[in-house]
Amino acid sequence: MEQHDLEKRARLLERKLERSEHNRKELEEQHSRGQLLYRKLHADLAAAQAQLVQQEKLASLGQLTAGIAHEIKNPLNFVNNFSEVNLELVDELAEELRAAGVLDRLSGLVDDLRQNSEAVRKHGRRADSIVRTMMQHASGGTGEREPVDVNQLVSEHIDLAYHGRRAQASEFNVTIERDLADDAGVIPVVPQAIGRVLLNLIGNAFDALQEHAESVEGPFDPTVRVRTRRSSGRVEIRISDNGPGMSEDVKARIFEPFFTTKSTGTGTGLGLSLSYDIVTNGHGGTLEVESEPGRGASFVIGLPAS
Ligand SMILES: Nc1ncnc2c1ncn2[C@@H]1O[C@H](COP(=O)(O)OP(=O)(O)O)[C@@H](O)[C@H]1O
Ligand SMILES: [Mg+2]
Repeated sequence: MEQHDLEKRARLLERKLERSEHNRKELEEQHSRGQLLYRKLHADLAAAQAQLVQQEKLASLGQLTAGIAHEIKNPLNFVNNFSEVNLELVDELAEELRAAGVLDRLSGLVDDLRQNSEAVRKHGRRADSIVRTMMQHASGGTGEREPVDVNQLVSEHIDLAYHGRRAQASEFNVTIERDLADDAGVIPVVPQAIGRVLLNLIGNAFDALQEHAESVEGPFDPTVRVRTRRSSGRVEIRISDNGPGMSEDVKARIFEPFFTTKSTGTGTGLGLSLSYDIVTNGHGGTLEVESEPGRGASFVIGLPAS
């Protein structure tokens, strides 16, 4: 073969090689783009699944809670009724003993009996109020939906929560910022149910701020910010505080019934699970939390605008 031909073939081969190298690179890029897309889709799917599982878990916990309450309600009614009757009997007994002239000798026993019955009545009433809250899980905010002015509902419940708290703790101080969108408008809700959610969320913010105010050093301006927004068929109500915030562990559990970090007698741990039920099952909306330790907390209610 001639030198010329050889060179020509060599050049041809070189160009072929370059092209195939180019193709290889292109393929590699496509492959890694594909892998990225695949990984992202996979992560999205996993997140959606996790959220579904969480929603199902919370819904079934809510139903379980309501079911248990239903079973306890009846025997608890007996306990409460009989404790009332016992208190009347103690008075009658004291009268009889007085008439027989032996009350002085037995008054210690009679007083103990009265105190015990009063304690049973007091704690029975508390149990009754917990059971009633548990039973509200079953209704999940069912009832008549009606067109309600969002800003008005929010404003009224800020005032209710604030005055309620001041009545209990007159030294309680908080700045409340209202950032209510002019176009928030009217949405179909069960006003009592969403009202209860607002009271729970604002009450929790107050609790967090009170706790923080007691422990924090230096100047602290306890603030609750309430914001409403309307966007693409949805109305958002955001309630934020500059309290202590919460850890990941706590955040993962706050919507479970009976989860509380407050001392016994203060918290029942039912406020957020009930609120979650009302917003999601009752209204087809969303309830989300954003929080980090030391950076306050925000709760976001999302409600369909129609
Ligand atoms: N604004 C908030 N800041 C910090 N922690 C919060 C806030 N709201 C709720 N939590 C946490 O969520 C828990 C559950 O709240 P909830 O269901 O209302 O029950 P409870 O108020 O009776 O404890 C609280 O005990 C608290 O740990
Ligand atoms: Mg609460």
